[in-house]
Amino acid sequence: MGKVWFITGANSGIGAGTARAALKAGDRVVATARNLDKVRNALQDVTGDNLAFIKLDVTDEAGVKAAVEEAAKQFGRIDIAVNNAGYAVMGNFEELPTADIEQQFATNFWGVAYVMRAVLPVMRKQRSGHIFNISSVAGVVGFKHCGAYGAAKFALEGLSLAVANEIEQFGIKITVVEPGFFRTNLLDAQNVRWGKNTIEDYAAEGSTEAMWSPYHGTQQGDPAKLGEALARIAGMENAPQVFVAGSDALAAVTPAIEERLRETRAYEELTKSTDGSF
Ligand SMILES: NC(=O)c1ccc[n+]([C@@H]2O[C@H](COP(=O)([O-])OP(=O)(O)OC[C@H]3O[C@@H](n4cnc5c(N)ncnc54)[C@H](OP(=O)(O)O)[C@@H]3O)[C@@H](O)[C@H]2O)c1
Repeated sequence: MGKVWFITGANSGIGAGTARAALKAGDRVVATARNLDKVRNALQDVTGDNLAFIKLDVTDEAGVKAAVEEAAKQFGRIDIAVNNAGYAVMGNFEELPTADIEQQFATNFWGVAYVMRAVLPVMRKQRSGHIFNISSVAGVVGFKHCGAYGAAKFALEGLSLAVANEIEQFGIKITVVEPGFFRTNLLDAQNVRWGKNTIEDYAAEGSTEAMWSPYHGTQQGDPAKLGEALARIAGMENAPQVFVAGSDALAAVTPAIEERLRETRAYEELTKSTDGSF
């Protein structure tokens, strides 16, 4: 019998691509989404006994618990959880309403934390499991206009890497996924929340929307192929803790990490100067 996947935001983009790839690999999938009609529609051509649908808004902690319980009951176990649900709040940090930043964390960070807290007891009992947390290149590199989105993704990375060390003893792995630009609905006007120019000093640069919206529909990453890569990683004995997805992501992440290493080394003397001689 194939593995059991629990996927959030499975009605679109990377979530739907991952659901399809898992089914293609002969696994079973619990596809969750906040709108059941949407997810049933999105995956109607692969519907069968190996696919179950559960309604889930990841910002609802009690709802997350109930959905995980229902999934475990339905297929008897949860082998792989994919924390994919998310959206983007984009804009200059100073110009973003505080409520928008908090809402960004509610979905992109707390939604993931709730799912992890709900699936971990199931996986600990099984003494096996694999959690994929979909971060972003913006979770490694500080991009302009990504103060809110990137902060939530950086937080997600910190959570993932720390918890991975706590649960390794139970046979549970975590892989953080850092996609570049993928052709999904992330930058669709209905989903993205653009910051507005409200401070004169930022006005000369133009709007956030004007800078980022041209990427919509032209991204080079294929969510179906990312789904297939995740299915391959799920089958690995030694899965990576961090997976950079797409050559554009690689081109952004590699120099950022190299620059960090260079800077760390350049200030080695100053770093060591803070050691005490107690
Ligand atoms: N595409 C990229 O270039 C890219 C790059 C880096 C990282 N990512 C990350 O990849 C993940 C998937 O995004 P995508 O690119 O596939 O975009 P997408 O096509 O817009 O899909 C996002 C999914 O998340 C769901 N979602 C949003 N808020 C939710 C909530 N509160 N509860 C449950 N589901 C919720 C959406 O549901 P609705 O349809 O109901 O809104 C949708 O199913 C996100 O975490 C995103 O940050 C994407």
